[in-house]
Amino acid sequence: MTSSPGSPRRPFVFGLRRVEELDPGAPLPESHPRLVDRIVAEIRTNGPMTFARFMELALYDPEAGYYTSGATGPGRHGDFLTAPEGHPIFGWAVARHLESVWFALDTPSHFVVREHGAGSGALAAGILDGLRRSGSPLLDAIRYQAVDVAPARLDALAERLAAQGLGRHLEPFDAMAAPGAILANELLDAMPIHRVEGAPDGALLERFVTLGGAASLAAGSPGAAGDAGAQFATALGPPSTPALAARLDSEGIRLEPGQPAEICVAVDDWVARATQPLERGELLLIDYGYPAPELYTAARGSTLRAYHRHRVHADPFVAIGRQDLTAHVDLTAVERAATATGLKPLGRTTQARFLDDLDAGELLVALQTDPASTLQSYVEARSALMRMLDPRATGAFAVLAFGRGLPAASRLRGLPASD
Ligand SMILES: C[S@@+](CC[C@H](N)C(=O)[O-])C[C@H]1O[C@@H](n2cnc3c(N)ncnc32)[C@H](O)[C@@H]1O
Repeated sequence: MTSSPGSPRRPFVFGLRRVEELDPGAPLPESHPRLVDRIVAEIRTNGPMTFARFMELALYDPEAGYYTSGATGPGRHGDFLTAPEGHPIFGWAVARHLESVWFALDTPSHFVVREHGAGSGALAAGILDGLRRSGSPLLDAIRYQAVDVAPARLDALAERLAAQGLGRHLEPFDAMAAPGAILANELLDAMPIHRVEGAPDGALLERFVTLGGAASLAAGSPGAAGDAGAQFATALGPPSTPALAARLDSEGIRLEPGQPAEICVAVDDWVARATQPLERGELLLIDYGYPAPELYTAARGSTLRAYHRHRVHADPFVAIGRQDLTAHVDLTAVERAATATGLKPLGRTTQARFLDDLDAGELLVALQTDPASTLQSYVEARSALMRMLDPRATGAFAVLAFGRGLPAASRLRGLPASD
């Protein structure tokens, strides 16, 4: 195993879910000390750690992981702004899409919408409010189930829905088979990824996390956790699992020597588990990513990014447990995982086209005549929708839909017409 310096800082290329004017330019917080100690101890015991394991601890450690500890997360005052957080118009539009799935299923009296990574409940509130505003009969049939690794977020979500008079549509997560839809917006990008690069002989090398100079300080000693950036470094070695080369081989991808890439092995298992209870209906995924041939180009390089207070950078070894870590999603891998579970692709589109086909513009126009709207709230809605449609912001996000047991001729609003 050879050592190389820690993750290089790459210039950020485009905006995604960041709202530039909200970046306070403040220094990044210190890493969570106990989390750093835990990672150091694990590396000392087991040797260099896969980046997937590092990310699992950084995001999901039960005590100090960025997500599980309920650290700030999404929102205007948080670390990044997702489309549903931007304005409920996003959820209103998704409600139109879900209504067409419900119609395609012949309007079952119970229609479960299970949202994974439901966060603060912005999408849940938007969808339910959208159905209420349009007087949709689906509102009586919908059973909204929110899933999130952060229990505190689920409590806040329940309060949010209750405050909007929508609480009765929320029901506890239930793994029973049911007709409905499984949703996830900006979830797959947070799944732990392995970092790899092409080797000079055409094979694959994995980028492991190892101890850097500062790790010679005893874990837990003053200063050991504070400057975590100097504590961790990247080391190259043979891949930890044959699944990494197998994934790229199956996609016909060959990395150039030194070309970095991220591979999410966990997505296969997630798709299988998440859709297992879906009796009939849809899996709808919205996230940033590309099909493998576009994702794994030398020009694109690594898509690993860290988010803190709307600042985006590429160093995972700072603010550990206090910043979000993400990587672009390999859409080819997601599609293969879905079809492997027997789901049928219903279409792939961009978020901008999806919202446009759902007539999100018409929803905005309706706000102009809504007595509850003010000029300011209208202007805010308009600029939020612009961001959702802007390909430099979230408009280029991918929308992937898969079906199970839907009639062949189903026409689902928002998706490109299938032949
Ligand atoms: C980027 S936020 C997106 C929140 C929400 N979907 C939205 O669009 O506003 C990711 C959310 O997923 C949750 N999360 C992350 N990994 C998860 C997992 N494996 N299962 C369930 N929830 C997860 C996090 O706690 C967080 O609330």
